[in-house]
Amino acid sequence: MAAKRGALIVLEGVDKAGKTTQCKMLVQALQQSGYPAEMMRFPDRSTTIGKLISAYLEKKSELEDHTVHLLFSANRWEMVPEMKRKLEQGTTLVVDRYAFSGAAFTSAKPGFSLDWCTRSDVGLPKPDVVLFLQLSPAEAASRGRYGEERYEDAAFQSAVLDRFRQLMDDSSVNWKVVDASGSVDDVHKDIALKSLDAIHAAQTQPLGELWK
Ligand code: TYD
Repeated sequence: MAAKRGALIVLEGVDKAGKTTQCKMLVQALQQSGYPAEMMRFPDRSTTIGKLISAYLEKKSELEDHTVHLLFSANRWEMVPEMKRKLEQGTTLVVDRYAFSGAAFTSAKPGFSLDWCTRSDVGLPKPDVVLFLQLSPAEAASRGRYGEERYEDAAFQSAVLDRFRQLMDDSSVNWKVVDASGSVDDVHKDIALKSLDAIHAAQTQPLGELWK
């Protein structure tokens, strides 16, 4: 009998919400409970496309805004064969940022509609759940200063948060809001419960196509 497929679990949220820490904790907890699980992150800075993106984020290069948007998207598409293979083999993928960051960040720039920004990601593997780590701008600010990379400033992050809210109105995506203001362990427990639900549901449902 074919293995049951793994679930595609995405964590999104504004900067400082704790996505990366929570992704790592979730993968470890799932593995310890006997669920094969791996972490992925976007942008994946290790590929040729990812290196172009990384230089842009580090402000070592300039790229035209549409161009960098499409590179972020291409950086997801280039991982799709591997993602599908792993999911089919029964591995759950825990993904730090996905197409929602892609659409929210670019559409926070002047002159970009959310609609245009989602187009290049239509048809990507659809997450079984998108966990949105919610943190108010005031709480995010209390967690320390933003870093030095592009996009890491309070005004831009607040525009990004507005765009995330618009994306969350789309009921074709299984959004679950997580209150990220609690302790690391409390947030983890909430994420783990929601993830187990998604893993069980994925076992009886085919993988969907995003925004299609
Ligand atoms: P990331 O490498 O996750 O850095 P950090 O852990 O510091 O958040 O993300 C890098 C930046 O790229 C982040 O500001 C969000 C942005 N981004 C986009 O603009 N488009 C995208 O498609 C993705 C995935 C991220």
